[in-house]
Amino acid sequence: MPDRRPLVAGNWKMNGLRASNAELEALIAALKAGAPAACDVMIAPPFTLVMGFAAAADGSPVEIAGQDCSALAPGAHTGDVAATMLADAGASAVIVGHSERREDHRETDEGVNAKALAAYDAGLVAIICVGETEPERDRGETLEIVTGQLAGSVPDTATAANTVVAYEPVWAIGTGRTPTADDVAKVHAAMRAALVARFGDEAGNGIRLLYGGSVKPANAGELMGVADVDGALVGGASLKAADFDGIIDAYR
Ligand code: PGA
Repeated sequence: MPDRRPLVAGNWKMNGLRASNAELEALIAALKAGAPAACDVMIAPPFTLVMGFAAAADGSPVEIAGQDCSALAPGAHTGDVAATMLADAGASAVIVGHSERREDHRETDEGVNAKALAAYDAGLVAIICVGETEPERDRGETLEIVTGQLAGSVPDTATAANTVVAYEPVWAIGTGRTPTADDVAKVHAAMRAALVARFGDEAGNGIRLLYGGSVKPANAGELMGVADVDGALVGGASLKAADFDGIIDAYR
């Protein structure tokens, strides 16, 4: 079974100005000062900050990611950002298919799949998000929805090196509510089984599976301790270096 190095990734969403560089610097300082963390650490700031953050984080353990990319090659697509541009700006990864994009921009599994392919072509790791809504959960459809999104959104060329999957129940994002450890274990086991069935042992067992949705310092230890949870995708609690470092504590 491959040794999966956990990843704690912060998704800043539409937050952050140039002055927020101070939080990144504080995070880098905290990582240097604290006990070594047995995980990768990543921040996904808004596009406007990617280049500055990548420069500021250069030589530190913090990797920088985009929050979305276009599936298209550079050209006449006003307002879009190509995966190659993110790579050029210093990002090493990009989040695709976050539920806020699926909702706000009507992104589909097919569209997310195409974005992940564009990420691979640019040499970026694709962090592909899946997760059920509250009505879907109430109807008992969680596993069906999540494995369906996984099948549609993850490209056939996914490997352990180019893909991370984040399970983020929509109803847990920004709400302070989380599934029980048991519920997370069930979903992650189903995702792992689906990946192994589709990609075989090496890639299927090597792709990292993150949990996201109201991860905080107080619950990170329990959630990160669940089988097949290989780290966290963190929204609100990633904006403050002290909170984010408190989540990274789960791997110290
Ligand atoms: P949250 O967001 O940690 O604020 O719930 C998680 C996410 O949307 O990635």
